[in-house]
Amino acid sequence: MKTQLQLPDQTLRLQRYPYIEGSDLQAWSAGDEYVYRYLQEQQLDKQQRILILNDHFGALSSMLASNNQVTFMSDSKVAHLALRQNLLLNQLPEVNCLTSIDSINNEYDVVVMSLPKINRMLCWQLTQLRAVLPSNIPVIAVDKAKQIHSSTLKLFEQHLGTTTTSLAYKKHRLIFSFADNASPKQAEEAVSWSATPTPVELSNLANVYSGEKLDQGARLLLEHLPTPSCEPCDVIDLGCGNGIIGIRYKQLNPTSSVTFVDESYMAVESAKRNALSNIGTLDGCNFRVDNCLESAPKESADIILCNPPFHQQNAITDHIAQQMFEDAKNTLRSKGTLRVIGNRHLGYFAALVKLFGREQVSLVTQNRKFVIIDATKR
Ligand SMILES: C[S@@+](CC[C@H](N)C(=O)[O-])C[C@H]1O[C@@H](n2cnc3c(N)ncnc32)[C@H](O)[C@@H]1O
Repeated sequence: MKTQLQLPDQTLRLQRYPYIEGSDLQAWSAGDEYVYRYLQEQQLDKQQRILILNDHFGALSSMLASNNQVTFMSDSKVAHLALRQNLLLNQLPEVNCLTSIDSINNEYDVVVMSLPKINRMLCWQLTQLRAVLPSNIPVIAVDKAKQIHSSTLKLFEQHLGTTTTSLAYKKHRLIFSFADNASPKQAEEAVSWSATPTPVELSNLANVYSGEKLDQGARLLLEHLPTPSCEPCDVIDLGCGNGIIGIRYKQLNPTSSVTFVDESYMAVESAKRNALSNIGTLDGCNFRVDNCLESAPKESADIILCNPPFHQQNAITDHIAQQMFEDAKNTLRSKGTLRVIGNRHLGYFAALVKLFGREQVSLVTQNRKFVIIDATKR
């Protein structure tokens, strides 16, 4: 994996977070280089105030940090941690950091965004920008050319205003847009629906995984929640998304405490709102934005429920599931159980056997698509 980025005026060492020796996933894209080159060509005044949205590993923010006043805004805790790591690695000045729950103000000269994977998030961010930006402030978005469709440009026009695009460079394109639509379309902050037949109503902020319908894996896990081995139990919903798994567990086991953990600020905020509206109280509920269980106290949980991700941005990867399993083992008390659901082809059974030991791992149920597995700590 390349970690050294050579730019015309600086050389940076950039890593993903967490840094994995031998991984072939790079911390920056040709799109980041394209935006940097474009901004240099514009000969921006030094100390321009640049708002950067969705900078996956803080690469673009690091490139711009020494000459500009950078504000970094991301829904991802991993992106926040990567940015901090890359600023330190390169001894760069601090940048101002916002999460996706913070509001955007109008104190910027340029806005740069990497297109989010979820269109609802794009529309929400454009709606926020339209509400505050003067019409002469350029919004520059970047992605792989094949991800930029005429429907993407239409979203910019409808929610923000006048929109054009650049030529392609190393398979990436830029979108240029201005907040001048006089009657813009307004994106909703959250989408709500019922998880029928589970008696839970869910409200999902824009970037929440499976925010418009119940995930199929979650549906099966809801039918096979473990019965508590202790009374009361300390339970973690790891990678909680909108909180459906932990909320249902808490409804069925009101004396247990449930900690909802996700790396997405919008997911944890949605889980909190949903826990309050469905359980009626937040007593016995905790909420944490974390990279897996990095900051969880050791041996503090009896049950961990997990429907792990197998993507990071556009890359298919098992390293997050693997870290979740390792962190879960550290976080469980002796005799505590990790219950995992996954697609059959993902090989979670073998990974859990390697970590917990053959006798400690068992198949709970399976169907054509999914398996549910228990791994119990000795
Ligand atoms: C397959 S979804 C499951 C969501 C929800 N529990 C469900 O069953 O519908 C995986 C979740 O893991 C979260 N996630 C991804 N990477 C993570 C990380 N490094 N640490 C914690 N959570 C992460 C995602 O944001 C997503 O909400």
